[in-house]
Amino acid sequence: MPDIVSLLKEKRTFQPSADFTSSANWNKKTTAEYRRLAARNPNRFWAKMAKENVSWFTPWKKVLDWKPPFAKWFVGGKLNISYNCLDRHLEGPNAWRRNKAAIIWEGEPGDSRVITYGELHREVCRFANVLKERGIKKGDRVALYMPMVPELAIAILACTRIGAVHSVVFGGFSAEALRERINDAGAKLVVTADGGYRRGEPNALKPAVDAALRRTPSVENVIVVKRTGEPTRMKKKRDHWWHELMEGASSRCAPAKLDSEHPLFILYTSGTTGKPKGILHTTGGYLTHVTTTSKVLFDLKDTDTYWCTADIGWITGHSYVVYGILANGATTLMYEGVPTHPGPDRFWDIIERWGVTIFYTAPTAIRTFVRLGDEHPKKHDLSSLRLLGTVGEPINPEAWMWYHRVIGGKRCPIVDTWWQTETGGIMITPLPASMPTKPGSATLPFPGIEAAIYDNDGREASASDGGFLVVRKPWPGMLRGIWGDPKRFVETYWSRYKNTYFTGDGAHRDSDGYFWIMGRVDDVMNISGHRIGTMEVESALVSHNKVAESAVVGRPDDLTGTAIVAFVTPKAGAKVSGAFAAQLRDHVAKQIGPIAKPKDIRFTDALPKTRSGKIMRRLLRDIASGKENIGDTTTLEDYSVIAALRSDDDS
Ligand code: WT7
Repeated sequence: MPDIVSLLKEKRTFQPSADFTSSANWNKKTTAEYRRLAARNPNRFWAKMAKENVSWFTPWKKVLDWKPPFAKWFVGGKLNISYNCLDRHLEGPNAWRRNKAAIIWEGEPGDSRVITYGELHREVCRFANVLKERGIKKGDRVALYMPMVPELAIAILACTRIGAVHSVVFGGFSAEALRERINDAGAKLVVTADGGYRRGEPNALKPAVDAALRRTPSVENVIVVKRTGEPTRMKKKRDHWWHELMEGASSRCAPAKLDSEHPLFILYTSGTTGKPKGILHTTGGYLTHVTTTSKVLFDLKDTDTYWCTADIGWITGHSYVVYGILANGATTLMYEGVPTHPGPDRFWDIIERWGVTIFYTAPTAIRTFVRLGDEHPKKHDLSSLRLLGTVGEPINPEAWMWYHRVIGGKRCPIVDTWWQTETGGIMITPLPASMPTKPGSATLPFPGIEAAIYDNDGREASASDGGFLVVRKPWPGMLRGIWGDPKRFVETYWSRYKNTYFTGDGAHRDSDGYFWIMGRVDDVMNISGHRIGTMEVESALVSHNKVAESAVVGRPDDLTGTAIVAFVTPKAGAKVSGAFAAQLRDHVAKQIGPIAKPKDIRFTDALPKTRSGKIMRRLLRDIASGKENIGDTTTLEDYSVIAALRSDDDS
């Protein structure tokens, strides 16, 4: 792995400023105490966090029940997440938050809404009542396929109020992908919108719902938010306008007292097979994890305006746009559209106008901004910012330095946070007030998280070799299973090492013990911080009637981190052309969504295979990244010649 070598050369370190440290939620002293406690007794540490940061109706009887690989946290405890995110900011010493902004929302066309805690509470209660009237009960699944509008946050909070299980499907996924996810979860109700705004145009969503719902027997009702006002077909009895149902709904709804292990949500993510996995998270442990990490590493205060640019359709949006932030009573900013509309300075304009103090985004976005030029952020006053964060993929040190210098004005600590859909919350991260950061390193595990790097045999890997990133002990926010597929849960995460969670990432540690994440080691690609399985794209391609076989690999890309390259063997008689390639790209977009579109499609007579019939993926990766010169790519290639030069052990 050449990247290890180049990263090992990174020697710069950055100390937190005295200013930041002196007023931080966790200063050096508290951090040291908590680290000690967590190292000695992680359960006691997490119990302390659960008590300090979460409100319980009934205390738990047992902190952790661990029957590997099945964990139950805060057993016997009862709570409600919407209560934690809303009601407790309206009563007692926090009652002044009633008229504090909970959500600042900005639409892409420039319209905006500020929703106070009091108002958000009323809206959530009303929508919870709407769900109940539509027959939704505790444990029922509700699918959400929406743009980034406040109603999405309202809807998921309403689900938590009554104990319904939400399954948010990112609005960029296709009708086909939506249908698959609705059916897998057996959702009874779908919440959607007529559309949202993207790149200055209304982008319809409801037609995809209509297409998906042609074969979804479990769905009884669809609730549609009017966002764009574009003409929208409504199916009698099944489809209802959000605003019409809300009109008559009461704004009182008692929060259900839910068991700590009550299912909270399902979120689908890609794995190494063609079928996405429904990652299941539950209530008490998850809330403890995301609330604690939000408070500590974003250093959330009542005076902050926090902005995470992730869509709620991804785990980052669940944990760090909505739950972790509102549970702390902070102000969360939501933005509907693309970063470059109407101009390349939209993000910086938002930061200046709303006085954003904490900004959390993805390396791929930072690389895009680097390329767009410093003049765009420089046009704006970004002095309100006091902390920056990144998530989703490794950040290259140069992009980190740019973020530090141009956006952070050299005064803001940067938290490079490593975690996954499965981990629920942040796992490896700097604590901004108490330790030096290094560009490109996620630094150290959060207290109470036992991360390690193993070699093939389950021994700690040496620093220079690196190895597989694992987690040795259960943690509160961990996934509780894969919806409907316990076997896959055990096989994917718990079979490589005994009683140890396998992350699928490669990593190494430096002499300070800092972690450097190298990226996925399985057949999962990270495209702009989003996970796409090679198998998923392959099965989308072979579902096209002119494709015989296909192999998909990732290649490094300056902007998106990884770009998708598809090798395709057409069926006999299919004519190879640029138009055919374009057709295939559209086909993948239809099957999965535009993010899964291959950047390059290469046609081949036959895929290079070993004598035992295994596709030579390493060879394909080399060809894709230009390490093997294969000449003109618009024609049908025969890679068997190159394949013959390679040994059989290619994998
Ligand atoms: C994969 C998880 C969890 C938030 C968004 C992605 C990669 C995530 C980092 C980071 C290096 C990172 C890993 C991980 N990743 N954060 N700070 N440094 N890599 O969630 O879709 O579940 O993807 O994203 O490869 O396994 P996800």
